[in-house]
Amino acid sequence: MMLKLLHYFPFIGLVVAENGLQAWLRYAPLPQGHNARLPSSIIALNSSTNSPVNTAGQELQKGIQGIFGNRLSISSIGKAPSSAVIGTVAQFQEAFGSSPVHNQLEEDGFWLSVNGSTVQILGQNERGALYGAFEYLSMLAQGNFSNVEYATNPAAPVRWINSWDNMDGSITRGFGGNSIFFADGHVVSNLTRAAEYARLLSSIRVNAVVVNDVNANFTTINPENIQGVGRIADVFRPYGVQLGLSLDFASPMELGNLSTYDPLDPGVIAFWGDITQQIYARIPDFAGYLVKADSEGTPGPLVYNRTLADGANLFANVIKPFGGIVMYRAFVYNQLPDEGDWKADRANAAVDFFHPLDGQFDDNVIIQIKYGPIDFQVREPASPLFANLLETNTAIELQVAQEYLGQQCHLVYLPPLWRTILDFDLRVQNQSSFVRDVITGERFKRPLGGSAAVVNVGLNDTWLGSHLAMSNLYAYGRLAWDWTSDSEMILQDWTRLTFGLDKTVIDTITQMSMASWPAYENYSGNLGEQTLNDILYTHFGPNPQTLDNTVWGQWTRADHASIGMDRTVSNGTGFSGQYPPEVAEMFEDIETTPDNLLLWFHHVNYTQMLKSGKTVIQHFYDAHYEGAETANNFVAMWQSLKGKIDDERFEDVLFRQVFQAGHAIVWRDSILNFYHNISGIPDGAGRVGHHPFRIEAESMELSGYQRYVVSPFEAASNAIAIVTLTNSTTGTATTVLNFTSGVYDLAVNYFDLYGGNSSYQVLLNQKMIGQWVGNIVDIGKLGHTPSIYLDGHSATRITFPQVPIKKGDTLKIVGQANGVEPAPLDYVVLLPAGVID
Ligand SMILES: *[C@@H]1O[C@H](CO)[C@@H](O)[C@H](O)[C@H]1NC(C)=O
Ligand SMILES: *[C@@H]1O[C@H](CO)[C@@H](O)[C@H](O)[C@H]1NC(C)=O
Ligand SMILES: *[C@@H]1O[C@H](CO)[C@@H](O)[C@H](O)[C@H]1NC(C)=O
Ligand SMILES: *[C@@H]1O[C@H](CO)[C@@H](O)[C@H](O)[C@H]1NC(C)=O
Ligand SMILES: *[C@@H]1O[C@H](CO)[C@@H](O)[C@H](O)[C@H]1NC(C)=O
Ligand SMILES: *[C@@H]1O[C@H](CO)[C@@H](O)[C@H](O)[C@H]1NC(C)=O
Ligand SMILES: *[C@@H]1O[C@H](CO)[C@@H](O)[C@H](O)[C@H]1NC(C)=O
Ligand SMILES: *[C@@H]1O[C@H](CO)[C@@H](O)[C@H](O)[C@H]1NC(C)=O
Ligand SMILES: *[C@@H]1O[C@H](CO)[C@@H](O)[C@H](O)[C@H]1NC(C)=O
Ligand SMILES: *[C@@H]1O[C@H](CO)[C@@H](O)[C@H](O)[C@H]1NC(C)=O
Ligand SMILES: *[C@@H]1O[C@H](CO)[C@@H](O)[C@H](O)[C@H]1NC(C)=O
Ligand SMILES: *[C@@H]1O[C@H](CO)[C@@H](O)[C@H](O)[C@H]1NC(C)=O
Repeated sequence: MMLKLLHYFPFIGLVVAENGLQAWLRYAPLPQGHNARLPSSIIALNSSTNSPVNTAGQELQKGIQGIFGNRLSISSIGKAPSSAVIGTVAQFQEAFGSSPVHNQLEEDGFWLSVNGSTVQILGQNERGALYGAFEYLSMLAQGNFSNVEYATNPAAPVRWINSWDNMDGSITRGFGGNSIFFADGHVVSNLTRAAEYARLLSSIRVNAVVVNDVNANFTTINPENIQGVGRIADVFRPYGVQLGLSLDFASPMELGNLSTYDPLDPGVIAFWGDITQQIYARIPDFAGYLVKADSEGTPGPLVYNRTLADGANLFANVIKPFGGIVMYRAFVYNQLPDEGDWKADRANAAVDFFHPLDGQFDDNVIIQIKYGPIDFQVREPASPLFANLLETNTAIELQVAQEYLGQQCHLVYLPPLWRTILDFDLRVQNQSSFVRDVITGERFKRPLGGSAAVVNVGLNDTWLGSHLAMSNLYAYGRLAWDWTSDSEMILQDWTRLTFGLDKTVIDTITQMSMASWPAYENYSGNLGEQTLNDILYTHFGPNPQTLDNTVWGQWTRADHASIGMDRTVSNGTGFSGQYPPEVAEMFEDIETTPDNLLLWFHHVNYTQMLKSGKTVIQHFYDAHYEGAETANNFVAMWQSLKGKIDDERFEDVLFRQVFQAGHAIVWRDSILNFYHNISGIPDGAGRVGHHPFRIEAESMELSGYQRYVVSPFEAASNAIAIVTLTNSTTGTATTVLNFTSGVYDLAVNYFDLYGGNSSYQVLLNQKMIGQWVGNIVDIGKLGHTPSIYLDGHSATRITFPQVPIKKGDTLKIVGQANGVEPAPLDYVVLLPAGVID
């Protein structure tokens, strides 16, 4: 073992634990046989501690030492041959009299020249120089020793992250531990992780982080906390990352003791002017404000009958003298719609509110628009608001946080989803109008624009709770720089940097990741009917019933015969008419609406024929089976990497893939049980409701266990589970196996509730073949929002592979309740090789 380690890691003293903390900046030694011509020293043209150029010099030193074992000296002057020189164009000119770069660079851009051991990295500003240093290091870490010479510039000036961190240290939709910024109402004293985060972000060219939740707490801007966030800005600064803050619109009342927060009130204006001054006094490079107002019950200008533009411009005015900007969210929908009204539609809200205000927002306001008209669903059409603001700056809001997409417990590589939006051509004024060109400002010649991604990094060593989920964060930065970058190539760069250069590792992770979003869409909600998560509770597991009969407007309008939202102009909500004519026409007509958005735009019978030649309902059946199968195949794919990556990360990912495989079956069955039940239409392939390898727990001989009717019914196989008689006792469920003798994978579906850690044993002819504790949600091993009920979030599977079974064997499961968890069991399944059920 030691020998093998030495072979792979020749500089053993530098090897850090592979716990994920270094993410894609590991600077791991290259395998033998990679020999680069390296610079012999580093010249960083600014040696001030807070200067990103100084940071770049140190990062180069650290990286080259990690990858090659050479420790280069750093100086701030001189002209050594075969050195790596880093600085701004201006600094280079100052030091050497002339510069090789002329007018090729825009703000934050850089120029990189590698000619053997002579390297020049010149930024338009210091931040750009640091980006260039990370680019060079990324090449070296991937064993790319090409000579290159090029300039590169960002697609847009705003490449931000929104953290939904709360002052008490929790994170809204946080699945990777508590906040690295806040605890107990204050900024934490140890900001090491915040600095490490800024380092990761600067390597992907993210230039600002809004550190607190959009549902902002006014205490964030009290005098003490302004000092506190000032300390965060201090640790961000050497990495060229700026700090921004979300605001609570009602702060003038809550913090300032005013009787109003009317945006036109002079006292209110003075209050915000004063706050802004205090912030800039502490943080001179403060990036700007993020405002969620009049949204889901938050206060805003509409309370005073002012317009949203009045609200946005209030902040724009006070921050303008300092050079700051205002990101104003378009996620406004306070009037809760009535499902009884066929024409009501929450999807219409953004355009209804904002289109009439086009041209009224100040130049330093950016309207931040979620990618789709509802809320980060597995598939949505591009928000039509991108086509309705021609005289307003816009940015797209994405989610690296997998709120509705498996909460980092399911592998879902998101760039292919994002690209469906950014590459969508809105045909404004019948001209090419890709969303990516709208948000960068290019299409409508706007001075500002870009993107913000909601990111839920936490204190967990893995940042996001999941090693593989980090590809989404990495890719966000890469795409925000260049929206035309290829999703798969970005993924491969990330994989090499994160897991090394082994081709099998790269190919396998590529294959899994690229298949992951289509698989998730297949086993959750497809044909554009939204993700079908439980939208009233955890946003994690399946619960299609929660979408209808609510005021949240995420309806599917599913009944016994038909399903889908009629968003046509001719007979429905009129949403399709919010797009420019060419696109509106396409979505208006069932014939020209793509299958994958059919139920978004049209209300149809389950027997409606798709372009694929299948009916809607048969598509559901087939897609869910396909998706669950793909997710199950990820397990063997990942297992094939054993020994090719370190055990710590291998085991961690394996645990999650096994969970996903089981939960994908929960998803598949829940959704299909539901639509099978409501439509009464059988599965043409005979799978739905027919599980020959399962033994329902309720059909076993029970002692100390009783039947329990699960709600929603579709979350349990056959709608029924078993629970112990009390929540402190033991139960047994026994059955005689009537299966052909052979070797089977024995899986048990149970429910892992928050608030208890039941223990279980599986016995075959009184001999124990396996045991487990239902504790994965209580010890936070997965990190998703837990459930205290037997439902689609708590439904979990454990598998004991390769169990030899004889016909007539007695199988017994013993469950010991714990806490509020009555050792709940759904079914046992004995899977012959190759069967997934
Ligand atoms: C060097 O960095 C410091 C700190 O960021 C900055 O104040 C100074 O202007 C920089 N010097 C030059 C010559 O750019
Ligand atoms: C690269 O460096 C060599 C000398 O080491 C020089 O002859 C050559 O012109 C350089 N190439 C470029 C493109 O600058
Ligand atoms: C090496 O890096 C350069 C610059 O990023 C890139 O253009 C080139 O394609 C890379 N070469 C390989 C083999 O990946
Ligand atoms: C705002 O933060 C304070 C201090 O942490 C806390 O007491 C209060 O409950 C928070 N308010 C809301 C609405 O979260
Ligand atoms: C600060 O946090 C870092 C990273 O979590 C840790 O390594 C370090 O020991 C902490 N420092 C102090 C003084 O607690
Ligand atoms: C608001 O009132 C509270 C309590 O009455 C007081 O402590 C605080 O200083 C006041 N704040 C301002 C800005 O006047
Ligand atoms: C806003 O307008 C409505 C309807 O015109 C009115 O009832 C309400 O009192 C107004 N609110 C304010 C704060 O002026
Ligand atoms: C038109 O809308 C009505 C509800 O107003 C609905 O019942 C009907 O199915 C729709 N017709 C078509 C063809 O979609
Ligand atoms: C849809 O189903 C309903 C109820 O079964 C039926 O009356 C209607 O004719 C069907 N419509 C189409 C277009 O097939
Ligand atoms: C056992 O399985 C066989 C064939 O699948 C079936 O005919 C028989 O009725 C089953 N016996 C019991 C006791 O369920
Ligand atoms: C990180 O999260 C994983 C699972 O989400 C958990 O098992 C582990 O204990 C956490 N580690 C830390 C250091 O928080
Ligand atoms: C048993 O469950 C009940 C509620 O279901 C709960 O109040 C009680 O505390 C639980 N008992 C234990 C030991 O946790």
